[in-house]
Amino acid sequence: MNILVTGGLGYIGSHTCVELLEHGYNVIVIDNLSNSKIEVKDYIKTITGKDINFVEGDVCNKQTVEHVFATYPVDAVIHFAAYKAVGESVHKPIAYYQNNLMSTLTLCEVMSKHNCKKFVFSSSATVYGDPKQVPIDETCEVGATTNPYGTSKVMNEQILQDVYISDPTWDVVLLRYFNPIGAHHSGLIGESPVGIPNNIMPYIAMVANKELPELHVFGNDYDTPDGTGVRDYIHVVDLAKGHVKALDYMTRQKVGVDAINLGTGNGYSVLELVQAFEKDNHIAVPYVIDPRREGDIAVCYAATDKAKDVLNWVAKKDIHDMVKDSWKFKMGLQGVVHEEN
Ligand code: NAD
Ligand code: UFG
Repeated sequence: MNILVTGGLGYIGSHTCVELLEHGYNVIVIDNLSNSKIEVKDYIKTITGKDINFVEGDVCNKQTVEHVFATYPVDAVIHFAAYKAVGESVHKPIAYYQNNLMSTLTLCEVMSKHNCKKFVFSSSATVYGDPKQVPIDETCEVGATTNPYGTSKVMNEQILQDVYISDPTWDVVLLRYFNPIGAHHSGLIGESPVGIPNNIMPYIAMVANKELPELHVFGNDYDTPDGTGVRDYIHVVDLAKGHVKALDYMTRQKVGVDAINLGTGNGYSVLELVQAFEKDNHIAVPYVIDPRREGDIAVCYAATDKAKDVLNWVAKKDIHDMVKDSWKFKMGLQGVVHEEN
C-alpha cells in the first residue's frame, strides 16, 4: 500500500514514516523543508533500512501534488504539513490560514481527481479550546479556539467533513493529538525547532544543556495540585503508531468521518515534568515562575476509550521514556554544552 505523507520530514511525520516502513508500507513524502532538514531522510533509512520516496515541494502547489499523484499510485494520505506555532499564528494569521487551509484543499482536489479518498488528518486537542470537563472526550464541544493556528485546525476538520458530505465514498480520520514529546529511541530523530522553542520539552532540553539559563514556568496559580498547568504528554513514537492504526481502521471498514483523541489519559504538571526530567536524566533544570501565558488553559488531558475501542491503540510509553528519549536526542544531535565546560 502506498501512503503519501505530507510534512513527512518533520517531528511527528518522520516518526510516522519509520512506523509505516516498519509495517511494510511504501512511503512517499512531500515536504518543502520549511521546518525540517533533508538529513532526516537519511536518519529514517538508518533506522529502518528502507528508503522513502521523497519529493521536495509545497503541498499548496497543485502542480507539485499532481506530479506526485501522476508518479505514484497513492492509496491514502496522512497530512502533517502545516505551520504549528501558536504564538506566531497570532502575528501571521494570513500565512497560517494560507498554508494550513490551502494544503488541505489542494490535496482534496487532487485526491478526488485520482480517486484516492482515504485521508488521515493531524488535528489537535487545541480544537476543544478551554474544555468544560476533563478528561476530554470526542463529543466535547469544538470551536472555541483562542488563536489562528487552533482555528485553522477547526476549519480543516469542517472542510473534511463537508468533503465527505459531498461525496460519502471518502473516509477521513481526524486524529486529535494531545502534547507530543520524546523522540525515537535511536536518538536520531526528534523535535528540533528553529530558535527559542515555544513548547515546553525542547525548552527544558535547552535549559538542561545550558543553552538557555532557566525555564520560565508560566503560572503557578492555576487550580491544579501544584498550581502549574497540567497536560497529557504523549510519546511521539506512540503517536506515530496511532497513524498506522488509523490506516488499519480505514482498510478494515467504512469510516466516514471520525475524530479520535490520541493521548495517554494522564495529566502531568509543568513541575512534575521538570522533576521527571531532572531525576531520570540526572541533570538540573533551573526554573523561575513567571505570570500565566496568554491563551493557556489550566488542565487538558484526553479520554482514551475511543482510540482503544476503535483503533485498538493505547499509548504504551510513560513519562520516564518521554523525558529520557527527549534528552538522548538532544545529546546526540545538538552537542552537549555542559560536557565541554
Ligand atoms: P513540524 O513543523 O515538525 O512538521 C511539519 C512539516 O511540514 C515540516 O517538515 C515542514 O517543513 C512541512 N511543511 C509545512 N508546510 C508545508 C507545505 N506547505 N508543503 C510541504 N511541506 C510543508 O510539525 P509537527 O510537530 O511534526 O506537526 C505535524 C502536524 O501535527 C501539524 O499539522 C501540527 O499542526 C500537528 N500537531 C502538532 C502538535 C505538536 O505539539 N507538535 C500538536 C497537535 C497537532
Ligand atoms: N510552559 C511553560 N513554559 C514554557 C512552555 C510551556 O511553563 O516555556 C507550560 C505551558 O504553560 C503549559 C505546558 O507547559 O502548561 C505545555 O505548554 P506547550 O507550549 O508545550 O503546549 P500547549 O499545551 O500550550 O500546546 C501544545 C501545542 C499545540 C497543541 C496542544 C494540544 O503547542 O499546538 O499542545 O494539546 F494544540
